[in-house]
Amino acid sequence: MTPARIGTAPLGTNGPQAGVQGLGCMGMSFAYGPADANASRATLERALELGVTLYDTADMYGSGENERFLAPFFKAHRDELLVATKFALALDPEDPTRRIIRNDGPYIRQAVEASLKRLGVDVIDLSYMHRRDLNVPIEETVGVMAELVQEGKVKQLGLSEVTADELRRAHAVHPIAAVQSEWSLFSRDIEARVVPAARELGVTLVPYSPLGRGFLTGSFADADKDLTPDDFRRQLPRYTGENAAANRALLAPLRTVAEAHGATPAQIALAWVHQQSHVHDVPVIPIPGTRKPERVEENTAATRIHLTQEELNLLAPIADQVAGTRYADMSFTSAGRE
Ligand SMILES: NC(=O)c1ccc[n+]([C@@H]2O[C@H](COP(=O)([O-])OP(=O)(O)OC[C@H]3O[C@@H](n4cnc5c(N)ncnc54)[C@H](OP(=O)(O)O)[C@@H]3O)[C@@H](O)[C@H]2O)c1
Repeated sequence: MTPARIGTAPLGTNGPQAGVQGLGCMGMSFAYGPADANASRATLERALELGVTLYDTADMYGSGENERFLAPFFKAHRDELLVATKFALALDPEDPTRRIIRNDGPYIRQAVEASLKRLGVDVIDLSYMHRRDLNVPIEETVGVMAELVQEGKVKQLGLSEVTADELRRAHAVHPIAAVQSEWSLFSRDIEARVVPAARELGVTLVPYSPLGRGFLTGSFADADKDLTPDDFRRQLPRYTGENAAANRALLAPLRTVAEAHGATPAQIALAWVHQQSHVHDVPVIPIPGTRKPERVEENTAATRIHLTQEELNLLAPIADQVAGTRYADMSFTSAGRE
C-alpha cells in the first residue's frame, strides 16, 4: 500500500503552503560521513511523492557541493517544490580551513549569485542568513536581502539561530517567513523567547536537527566510537564520552511512548516536534535529514501520530537533563546571545 501524502503548513504570513515536513539535505554531501549518491537521489524522489516540498541546503554544505548535487533534482521538479538555501559562513581568507561569518551586503550579493548558479534556478524560494555577524546591524543585512527580493532573485526571507530581539528588528525591515533553529526533545531553548516572537509576527518555525542529529533514533550511541573520524557530530559535546552515556539513559521514555504507538523512537521524536505547532500556536515545518528512502517514509508517517497530554508530560523533562551543550561554542546560537 502506498503511504499517504503529508499535510501542509504556511511558510510565513503571505507565503506559499509547504509540506508540513521538509527534508534536510545536508548529510547527502557533508558533515555526517560517507553518503551513497544513488540512495540520496532515491530519497529526494520518494520525499516528493510523499508530499515533502521544502528542501533544505546551504552554500557551505561541502563548499557548494550539496547545492550542486541537488540541482538536477530541482530542475526536474522545479514547479513542485521549494528551494531553501543559506549564506553567511564564508571561508576565512587567512586560513581556508576555517569559517568566518559574513553578513555584509557585498558578501551576501555574491553568495546568493553563486548559490543561484550552483542550484541551477532563477530564484531561491527561501534564502536564509545562516549565522549572525554581530558587527553588522541586522537591519543592514535584511535590507540587502530585501533588495534581492525586489530584484526577483529571492522570494522569501529566513533567519537561522537569531534571538527574539534580532527577529523583531529584522521583521520591521522586511517580513521574515521562517526562522530555522535547532528544536527537538533535546534542544528546547528557543521556546522561551524565539517561539513566542515568531507566533506574534506570523513567522514559521523550521526546526533543524529534530532527531537530535540522529541520537534520538538510537542510530548511534557514542559519536567517537560509532561514527567515522570526519563526522561533525564528534565535535558536539553532548554526543561523546560521559555525556553520551548520560544522554542515552534519557531515551527510555521515548522508547516507552514508541512501543505504545507501535512506532519507532524517530517517529515519536518527530511527532513531538510537529505537535509543538499546536502547543505554541505557530506553524512548524521540521526538516529531518536522511539519505534513505525508507526513512523518509518512516519520518513522514510521524505527521499522523498524535501524542496524548500524558505522553507529552513523560517526554517534557528530557531536555533539561541533557548533558553537554548543542554546540561547543554557543555564541553562534540564539541561546548563547540571549
Ligand atoms: N541552520 C543550521 O544551522 C542547521 C544546522 C544543522 C542542520 N541543518 C539542516 O537541518 C537538517 C536536519 O538536521 P540534521 O541532519 O543535523 O539532524 P536530524 O535531522 O536531527 O538527524 C539526521 C540524522 O538522523 C538519521 N536519521 C534520519 N531519519 C532516521 C530514522 N528514521 N531512523 C534512524 N536514523 C534516522 C540520519 O541518518 P541517514 O542520513 O543515514 O538516514 C542522520 O544521521 C540538515 O540536513 C540541514 O539541512 C541546519
